[in-house]
This record gives sequence, structure tokens and C-alpha cells, in this order.
Amino acid sequence: MSIAQNTETTGKLRCIACGATPDSASQDFRCTACGDLLEFFFPGWTSGAPADPAALKSLWLNRRMSREALDQSGVWRFRELLPHIPTLEEHAITLDEGNTPLYHLPRCALAARVENLHAKHQGMNPTASFKDTGMTFAASSAHQGGFRWVACASTGNTSASMAAYAARGSMHSLVLIPEGKISWGKLSQALDYGALTCQLRTDFDGCVRILNELVRQKPVYLLNSVNPYRIEGQKTAAIELMEQLAWEPPDHIIVPGGNLGNSSAIGKALVEMRELKLISRLPKLSIIQAQGANPFYRCVREFGGKKLEPMAADTLATAIRIGNPASWKKALRVLQATGGEVEQVTEVEIAAAKAEIGADGVGCEPASAVTLAGLKKLRQRGFVKAGDAVVLILTGHLLKDPDFTIKFHRGELFSGTPIAETPAETASAQTESLQRAPVVLDANLGAVIAALDAAERNS
Ligand code: F0G
Repeated sequence: MSIAQNTETTGKLRCIACGATPDSASQDFRCTACGDLLEFFFPGWTSGAPADPAALKSLWLNRRMSREALDQSGVWRFRELLPHIPTLEEHAITLDEGNTPLYHLPRCALAARVENLHAKHQGMNPTASFKDTGMTFAASSAHQGGFRWVACASTGNTSASMAAYAARGSMHSLVLIPEGKISWGKLSQALDYGALTCQLRTDFDGCVRILNELVRQKPVYLLNSVNPYRIEGQKTAAIELMEQLAWEPPDHIIVPGGNLGNSSAIGKALVEMRELKLISRLPKLSIIQAQGANPFYRCVREFGGKKLEPMAADTLATAIRIGNPASWKKALRVLQATGGEVEQVTEVEIAAAKAEIGADGVGCEPASAVTLAGLKKLRQRGFVKAGDAVVLILTGHLLKDPDFTIKFHRGELFSGTPIAETPAETASAQTESLQRAPVVLDANLGAVIAALDAAERNS
């Protein structure tokens, strides 16, 4: 079975390596000529924008007042910049995704020594991660293609998102997750949304390998981010961000890097918005990885972008515990196009940054916190200047991984890990001043007042 493209579509598929432009994608969404990834491009745009930029901006703004489901979605509201899906009204599956807040982070700004710091919180999507913006679009394309089954390999967020959209579209979903390496929160979502959930005794990269084999044999629609529809939907986070900033781009956007679909999507949107004159300059897009799961960092820093060496990944930020990222070539292109940087951060730096984002009243999951930790390093290196406007993309919700948070505040996060043997790191001021362990007291007023007074003295 192939995934047909409609002739009316404004988007066409193209291989990122050999440039082949197939009319349809095979089930693994890889180029049948050379095996590399496909992307959408928009031939019509070379002869002028889909509309005049000012007209597009006002159309999108007016849709916020509309009662139509597609207009209320923060993804479909920007459909002029997405490939056309035929008979969309019948096939669109939406949960009112997107429309995520942009928060000012004053305390984090102080910690990172920048004056103007915001976070776009993609964890405020319906299933609590950025995945929903790509999923609404790709799941709708699966529905339009008549698929009964959709499937993904996941470190957690993709599976929850896919399972929700499949359920809304009356499709069946198959989830492959690494056993014991994803949060209970995410597993519980996939179960409640009715997915067939297989916990495989392997890591994320092992799940991906099996899924790629599976889709070649069974009529199952692949919903990992190699699917170019996912990337198109995820572009809208950047479009919405620019709208929130009154189309005045920040100097820097910072994203976590795992399988590298999100950075590719945000970068693609920035480049396209520049081409269409929706923005006048490109922000620098920088990608941050955990030190224990840093194949892309090494690809850029050690191998000059020439090759990516897969690795056995390990980090407590389970969402980005990925050693063989599928979209590394797309992400590399984005770094080059926008002049962004790569950085890697330690487990302790991630944990501290997560608590700092929490202390600004925002909160996020560990993988998202690499952005603040990375910003501090980019600032130290002078790549980010004090006066630069910076936006962090927070990809997932604080409540995804309460275990991580509680262990951190109790000072137990690194127990039993090699980091615990390096007291200089664990007991550093970086973490201790941020820890707020729960206080267990007898049920009497005097004890609570004493705790309150002690907290006041220390504040
Ligand atoms: N942040 C969170 C919260 C994620 O869940 C992921 C990826 C990333 C960042 C990295 O994004 O892969 O596009 O570079 N999560 C995956 C999943 C892979 O299965 O949910 P990426």
C-alpha cells in the first residue's frame, strides 16, 4: 500500500538526499531510490507566496474568533502553510491542539544572565507534549488514506499522542515502547486511549528497528517523525510563536534534540516564513542534547557534520534517550540555515534547570529542561549575548515524570547512579538550593507554624 498524494496538493514530496520527487511515499516514508528521508516542499511558492504576507497574518488572526473546529486548532489555523489534505473536513482529527502559551521566565533569565527570556510551552497541548501538533496532521493523513491501524515507536510522548488521535479518528493504534524506560504517566495515557501497547525488551532505537520492519509487511501507517506529515504539523509551533511575538523574531530559539524531528520542523518553518516574507530575519535555532545521549552533538562537534555515529544512549531525561536519531540530516541543515549551535548538558545541569523552570511557576519535563541548561552554556561561551531575546521550546509537561521531580527534591535522584559517586557535582549549590523536600509533621498547628516560620527565615 502506498500513501497517495492528491494532485491538487500544494506540497510535493522530495528526498532530502537524492532530490527524487515521488508522487507517493512508501510505508516506511523513505526514498525508494536511496533510502533517505522525504520532506514536503511547495513548488507554487517560488512564483510568489500563497497570499500576501499581511493578508495571511490577518486571516490567521481572524480565525481565532471563528467557531469552526479547524480554525480553533492552533495547527489547522495555519493550513495555508501545510500540504493540502483532500476532503479535509471528513478526515481532520483535531483535539484543539496548539494555542500554547508563551511565558516570560524572569528567574530563569537571571540564572542564565539574559534580559529577555520566554518559554513556548508545548507541554500545554491536549496530551501534554508538542507531539500533538504533528499528530493531528499525520493522523488525519492516515485517516484520509483509509488506514485501520497506525503505529509508532516511542519514548512516551509520541505514543500517548498517537493513541489519543487514533482513538478520536476511530483507528486502532500500536505502540512499541522500551520496557521500563518510559514514565508511568505516558504509559497510562496510551492504555486509557486504547492502544495495543507492547513493551519491548530493548531501547527506543530497538523499537524503531522493529517498527520499520513491521510497516513493510503489514498495512500499518507509521506515525514516527520520519513521517513528513508529522514535521509539517510541528512547523506550526514556530508560526504560532512568531504570531505571539507580533512577527518580530527573537535572536535565539533553543530546542531539545532527541530523534531531531522537532528541531527540523521548527527550522523548516522559520526558513519558509522567511521565504514568504512573514518574518524579516531568521532566529538562530540551537539544539541541546543530554551528554549521555549526544550523537548529534558529536556529529557536529567531532565529525563536522559529515557523519552520525549511533551510540547506546543513557539519560534520566527519558524522552531524549535516543542514540540513533532519524532526522539528523534535516536538523543539520536547519543549524546551517539559521546559524544555530549544538550543546550538551550533564544530568545535574538538567535537574537544576528543571527546578529553576518550576520555580518560575511554569514547570516542564526533564527533556525540556535541557533548553535552559543549554542556554546557560551558550551564554558562557558568548554565543548568546545578555541583551539577546531568547525563546526556549518546552516540549513536555511537568506532570509527565513526577518520579524524577520528587526524587530530585528529596535529594535521591542520583542514588545508585555513577553520579552519586561524584559528590562535587551532586552536592553542589546548583541543586541543593533548589530542593524543596516535603516535610512530614505531626498533625498539630504548632508544628505547621514552626515549619512556616523556618521557611520564612530561609526565604
Ligand atoms: N522533548 C520531549 C518531551 C520529547 O518527548 C521528545 C521526543 C523530545 C523532546 C525530542 O524531540 O525527537 O523531535 O528531537 N520524544 C519522542 C517520543 C521521540 O517518542 O515521544 P525530537
